[in-house]
Amino acid sequence: MSNNGLQISPAGPVGIFDSGFGGLTVLKEIRHRLPDLDYLYLGDNARAPYGTRSFDLVYRFTLEGVNYLFDRGCPLVILACNTASAKALRTIQQNDLPRSADPTRRVLGVIRPTAEFVGQASKTGHVGIFATPGTIASQSYDIEISNLHPGFITRGKACPMWVPLIENGEASGPGADYFVNRDVNALIDSDPLIDTVILGCTHYPILAEKIRRALPDHITMLSQGAIVAASLADYLRRHPEMDCRLSRGGTARFFTTEDPTRFDTLATIFTGHPVTAERAVL
Ligand code: DGL
Repeated sequence: MSNNGLQISPAGPVGIFDSGFGGLTVLKEIRHRLPDLDYLYLGDNARAPYGTRSFDLVYRFTLEGVNYLFDRGCPLVILACNTASAKALRTIQQNDLPRSADPTRRVLGVIRPTAEFVGQASKTGHVGIFATPGTIASQSYDIEISNLHPGFITRGKACPMWVPLIENGEASGPGADYFVNRDVNALIDSDPLIDTVILGCTHYPILAEKIRRALPDHITMLSQGAIVAASLADYLRRHPEMDCRLSRGGTARFFTTEDPTRFDTLATIFTGHPVTAERAVL
């Protein structure tokens, strides 16, 4: 379709991109909130984890993932990955999208909506963030939260072992207990005034029960799925020009850069319903 010389793609699914399984926790909440839309999920499991990789690599891998989803007809892509949101979102929005075949397509991230929400959750203004080493080093949460909520104090804790445990199917094993307890205690000990913690990696809800058990009862734990889903619903209300470009069949297709059989097994455990993935070559 052409509009004033711009190529506008026909209606298509919402693309959800993550380095691996983590984005499934976001997809689940988005589908719950917006069940009529169609979805295409892409997990770059072959190259996960992203959290310990350099800025350049995360940017390149994320751009390849976004282009894959664009090529399959998604007018809108959600980076359901904090590491990709921290390291690649801005460059894709500011440099790549305007030069792409259809600059009216959109890419959104998960850090900003979570940082906005934390203002209503914390009473002390002391907020802890669990995330990958890449997200913590980027200071994206610290910057967003201090811009949105002046006076708030943030403490980040990088948890480099949490994603590998999940990607390797060890989320319910005793190794996960050890690393979760160790990292939760380190964050809480660093600031006794923390009353709210953000699970700043979309993989972490898969460890939510263990993290909740390790946290003192008075601390609120924020998972991103519902926050991102509410933010997307609000975005589509404010952007009817995008809303009307999304196809509505209530379907979800899954793609992985790794072996689909392995993806199916773990994704089925994480989502609680059968998943059949297809192989993606980026
Ligand atoms: N789930 C991702 C995030 O939200 C990335 C985890 C990883 O690949 O290290 O940061």
